[in-house]
Amino acid sequence: MTDKQTFKPCDLVIFGGLGDLSRRKLLVSLYRLENSNLLEPDTHIIGVDRLAETSESFVQIAHNSLQEFAGEPIDDAVWQKLSARLAYVQIDVTQPEQFNQLHAVTDTKTRVLVNYFAVAPFLFKNICQGLHHSGILNDESRMVMEKPIGHDLKSSQEINDVVATVFQEKQVYRIDHYLGKETVLNLLALRFANSIFTTNWNHNTIDHIQITVAEEVGIEGRWGYFDHTGQLRDMVQNHLLQILALTAMEPPVSLEADSIHNEKIKVLKALRPITRDNVEARTVRGQYAAGAIKGKTVPGYLEEEGANTESTAETFVALRVDIDNWRWAGVPFYMRTGKRMSHKRTEIVVNFKQQPLNIFKESYADLPPNKLIIHLQPNEGVEIQILNKIPGIDENIKLQKTKLDLSFSEAFKNSRIFGGYEKLVLEAMRGNPTLFLSREEIEQAWRWIDSIQDAWHQLNQPPKTYAAGTWGPEAADELLKCDGRSWEE
Ligand code: BG6
Repeated sequence: MTDKQTFKPCDLVIFGGLGDLSRRKLLVSLYRLENSNLLEPDTHIIGVDRLAETSESFVQIAHNSLQEFAGEPIDDAVWQKLSARLAYVQIDVTQPEQFNQLHAVTDTKTRVLVNYFAVAPFLFKNICQGLHHSGILNDESRMVMEKPIGHDLKSSQEINDVVATVFQEKQVYRIDHYLGKETVLNLLALRFANSIFTTNWNHNTIDHIQITVAEEVGIEGRWGYFDHTGQLRDMVQNHLLQILALTAMEPPVSLEADSIHNEKIKVLKALRPITRDNVEARTVRGQYAAGAIKGKTVPGYLEEEGANTESTAETFVALRVDIDNWRWAGVPFYMRTGKRMSHKRTEIVVNFKQQPLNIFKESYADLPPNKLIIHLQPNEGVEIQILNKIPGIDENIKLQKTKLDLSFSEAFKNSRIFGGYEKLVLEAMRGNPTLFLSREEIEQAWRWIDSIQDAWHQLNQPPKTYAAGTWGPEAADELLKCDGRSWEE
């Protein structure tokens, strides 16, 4: 066994330290990292916000947040270690001189300054100016930000330009929390460490690929944000396109950030545009009506608290995506994602081609193709559907569908499956950019999404209704049916 690797400690400054992201996700992730002894001993965590709190009251707020959101009892010894790292600084980010206070709580000689922008993007400019004004940044400093990185290509370029005034691209860590999920990362291992997949991963053997990201939750009080965003921008622009890119990309030459970013960008560039001419055949927009999930009735989107009852925002999207490159010519990728669906399920289903000749007609008039199903969440695992002979001596060969089933929780009993945020917060503190998004990737994804938004706008049709607790509007089934295919259920 090798000794535990050590990294330079950080001053992790969380702008928006009292906000939702910080309280729900970041503090909980930091607690879990502490619990696993993954925080460097001299790392400090500084909450920054505009309210008049003290370090003592911030510690109390952090403790309350953990109790509310950690979903597990708080271990006192772990909490003592974590709380000793916490400090609070009150800064009105519109006042650059107030950033000078950061000098007293950070030490850029011995620790790396990692600035987590957990605030709305309209404040980014102020924070960048304030940090610059204080003179606290150096070449080692980093900034971390996450979606929404813009609403379209133009606004995303504006955000990236603002950040680029004080941080070089190599100092910027853009988060997509799906890239921190264990099973999403496992895609790299599965594809590039196993020759049975590497050699069969193209148009010669694969018929089509399905990506489903189904959510049980509705919009969870985020009406203001979600209603002018919609599911295409909220989920497809980032999470689904990232899953697609990792599934479709060419082998990177190494696990270095640049190498992986470049391969993903090539896939994004090869996406066939969806425009006014093909948007009706390629996309389905849906919005949930009242229904029941696991026996519990839930309101429709237009009846949610604070709803804009005229809203035409989509809470469901299904798409047929074509990748115009050598590997994937003629292999459609079908993607769907929706809120208030039957249950939470994220999976990739790789449907292999049928055998050229069926010599088992007695069992199946149509021989079912093999499938590789990668379960990303909740029950992480990998499953291969194959056909087997049913044992018996007095009959002809009769086939039955069977599964080779690898459940991560069974196979890796002693390993904890970490959440996306923990992994990404850790990697940002360690300075490993591999799991973060480059500017070009985000902008390329927006280019493709903007074209769909624009086509929908021209089409000017309301979303199709689906009852909460179902798998989306019927039109989503039609999307595959007209290609002679159906969704994996
Ligand atoms: C977020 C979206 O990025 O991802 C939310 O803004 C969505 O609308 C969430 O619910 C889903 O994340 P997860 O990890 O629960 O699949």
